[in-house]
Amino acid sequence: MSKPITGFSKLSKSKKIDWMVDTYFSNPVEAKAVLKQYWNSNDKLQQLHDEFIENTISNYYLPLGVAPNFLINDKLYTIPMAIEESSVVAAASKAAKFWLERGGFKTTVISTTKIGQVHFNYKGDFEKLKQFFDQVKPKLVADTEVITKNMKKRGGGILDIELRDKTADIDNYYQLHASFETLDAMGANFINSCLEQFAKTFKAEALSFNLFTEEEKHIDIIMSILSNYVPDCLVRAEVSCPVVDLSESKTVSGEAFAKKFIQAVTIAEVEPYRAVTHNKGIMNGIDAVVLATGNDFRAVEAGVHAYASKNGQYSSLTHAKVENGIFSFWMEIPLALGTVGGLTGLHPLVKLALELLHKPSAKDLMQIVAVAGLAQNFAALRSLTTTGIQEGHMKMHLMNILNQFEASTEEKHILTNYFKNNTISHTAVTEALNKLRVSSEK
Ligand code: MEV
Repeated sequence: MSKPITGFSKLSKSKKIDWMVDTYFSNPVEAKAVLKQYWNSNDKLQQLHDEFIENTISNYYLPLGVAPNFLINDKLYTIPMAIEESSVVAAASKAAKFWLERGGFKTTVISTTKIGQVHFNYKGDFEKLKQFFDQVKPKLVADTEVITKNMKKRGGGILDIELRDKTADIDNYYQLHASFETLDAMGANFINSCLEQFAKTFKAEALSFNLFTEEEKHIDIIMSILSNYVPDCLVRAEVSCPVVDLSESKTVSGEAFAKKFIQAVTIAEVEPYRAVTHNKGIMNGIDAVVLATGNDFRAVEAGVHAYASKNGQYSSLTHAKVENGIFSFWMEIPLALGTVGGLTGLHPLVKLALELLHKPSAKDLMQIVAVAGLAQNFAALRSLTTTGIQEGHMKMHLMNILNQFEASTEEKHILTNYFKNNTISHTAVTEALNKLRVSSEK
């Protein structure tokens, strides 16, 4: 077993790599060459990426693709998507084109409130704590003035602070539950800085609150942190069209398509095993745009899945119906996103992605991201309830299999043509490639 290393973070990048390849790799020279292959030749750009995190050894590429023809509230978008899964961008583009011909996507931002909490313990009389809170609340806000000044100038800031009694769940446990408007910033740093200041003021002021006993004066702060559950930072995306317009082939009528499609959604509404996969497909679209625009996809994932369980059982995020001959398909999801701050002004590809999206506000981005999710789910359900998912998936995966076998450009050309009319599987591709190679040797 290798020995632990001390002071690793203080080593130079090159020393870190030397230690790592010498300790863990059978061929250190080759391992180092792989890492270096991904370094950017522009030193300044490489340094920027090195400094995003600690202990950077290389860059990790994901393909950045684009899905054009998204008509959202009558404006056309080409949506950037960073994702490794072969079929996602193709599916998004297909859904975009389908709805382009049927009126496009309609979206609305329902709310933009974010939440943060100071969790603390207090041993004593709740009435006195309430009196103290009412008295100290203006000071909690006033003491964050340096942090909130700019945000307030732009129309955002702290919306409210509530005292919440959580002693029914845990003895002596209370919260300062605060709400914020962070405008175009995702707001994590802003919210956390405000919360930490609330905690400091709250603790310090309690020491001189006359009604408290000695024990009550000593409020014990557990932690101060924003919540990634943002059910009041909500966006709605929807599509609709006459049922008859849903049909694209003579074999399946619009009515038959809508019926199966709606049943697929209903299954995901009532069956958690299906709901998780159904929502995973939605997140294929959402995460890809969230990543491309430099936002925190883990925060979005956590918040969205919590929202999917808001009624006590994990359920579908999307819904569908037919009413008066009109098919509608929609989704409401919580999305806390930013178009200023964080990586948005730093990462050159993020800047490019945002310019491609007409330099959106955070509200605009919420709508675009929601559309990407809805489109992805539409594409998945459409395939699942008609041809099956594998046809499209395997078509896109073909290139991965060919690359695995280091197929040449010519081999790729011949085999993509061949598999236009033949069923793709790993074995079928392997056999076809071998056959081609044997015949070209002759
Ligand atoms: C695959 O990444 C996503 C799907 O499984 C989603 C779904 O089943 O709805 C196709």
